[in-house]
Amino acid sequence: TGVRIGIDRMGMFVPGQYLDVEDLARARGVEPAKFTKGIGQSRMSVPQHYDDIVSMGANAIADILPDIDVNRLGLLIVGTESGIDQSKSSSLFIKHLVGLPNRIESFEIKEACFGGTAGLFAAYHYVAAHPDKTVLVVASDVARYGLGTAGEITQGAGAVAMLISVNPSILVINDDAEDYSDDINDFWRPNGMTEAVVDGKYSTQVYLDFFRHVFDAYCGKHALAPRDFAALLFHLPFTKMGMKALNVALENADVETGKRLRENFELSASYARNVGNLYTASLYLSLMSWLEHADDAAGQRIGLFSYGSGAMGKFFTGCVQPNYRQHLHALAHEHMLMDRERIDMDEYERMFTHYHAAEDAETKYPESGFYFSGVQGAIRQYSRA
Ligand code: CAA
Repeated sequence: TGVRIGIDRMGMFVPGQYLDVEDLARARGVEPAKFTKGIGQSRMSVPQHYDDIVSMGANAIADILPDIDVNRLGLLIVGTESGIDQSKSSSLFIKHLVGLPNRIESFEIKEACFGGTAGLFAAYHYVAAHPDKTVLVVASDVARYGLGTAGEITQGAGAVAMLISVNPSILVINDDAEDYSDDINDFWRPNGMTEAVVDGKYSTQVYLDFFRHVFDAYCGKHALAPRDFAALLFHLPFTKMGMKALNVALENADVETGKRLRENFELSASYARNVGNLYTASLYLSLMSWLEHADDAAGQRIGLFSYGSGAMGKFFTGCVQPNYRQHLHALAHEHMLMDRERIDMDEYERMFTHYHAAEDAETKYPESGFYFSGVQGAIRQYSRA
């Protein structure tokens, strides 16, 4: 139809504390190289008791709100698998916190880590039907597996916000994605549990199987090969996972293509290596990391793989827009990551254990941004510092 729809703005938020994964390795009696090389992580974002999906999502929107024409906004969607209520959408808390008007539509979407992508494509189709309007998509999560578990090294927390519009400034998305879904049990979180249940090895296998399926199908339909992509970007529960998927894509590729796509993968994995798994936001953090670190990519085709346990896989492509760099906040994001405080194992374990004790005696709050300030009469309260 010639209508170009995609990502017009991208913002992010990560908590102000991190744990060095080598400290975690030593405390757990694991060779540090297993975590830094075998898993491919450096630092893990650790949320304070006041960082939840609402506050982090609101902070990610605040990163781009000054660039947004709120009069055109028609819809706010939140993708998350760390829901704070069984019924009310986190998007309504967020909408109120950041001061969006009451005339907009607003809801939350769930399908494990696929929720951000589900939001993105719902937004795409909304904008296709209402080209004069825009949509805010927020992906916000806290990845928790538990102290001393195999999944502990793949925890993290943070949020990404994206504005979807016609004639976007950053990435035009092609509406010809390849999907694959099946009812399997690789990772889930039963009602009432604050940590995920996971069949770890199986989940990595299903991730790779689903990637192979949708990538091969897409390339077959469109007569594309790895050499036709400037970058292949992945959901990164840990960076080694994406590297394994990239190796699947590169099985029959020439050496030069392999080298180029591996280098670009490293650029896309930089943020994830330093924050950990952001579940729904992870793929979009990879996209931001690549856009903010790669050489000028204007006009180039990229491929993106979204995976949500349960399970759902989608491969889609996009075209990077001219002057996209002017619309990114690369320097601010570098500072956001650099200015974090390094915590030790004692503090990490204390923060982890206290995380869900909403009404405890905590009085420490952040110096800036939105935060969760406790529960009053079964209602979650939020403030802005
Ligand atoms: N030096 C270098 N590498 C080393 C090493 C050392 N000293 N010791 C071990 N390694 C390597 C291993 O060889 C292995 O590499 P390969 O995978 O390339 O073989 C790697 O470190 C991991 O070691 P293990 O195979 O022993 O794995 P583990 O038992 O520690 O568990 C995990 C790893 C399954 C990822 C676990 O952390 C986990 O369950 N994480 C949560 C689930 C998850 O993230 N799944 C991803 C797919 S599902 C998804 O994507 C949705 C989502 O977000 C959850």
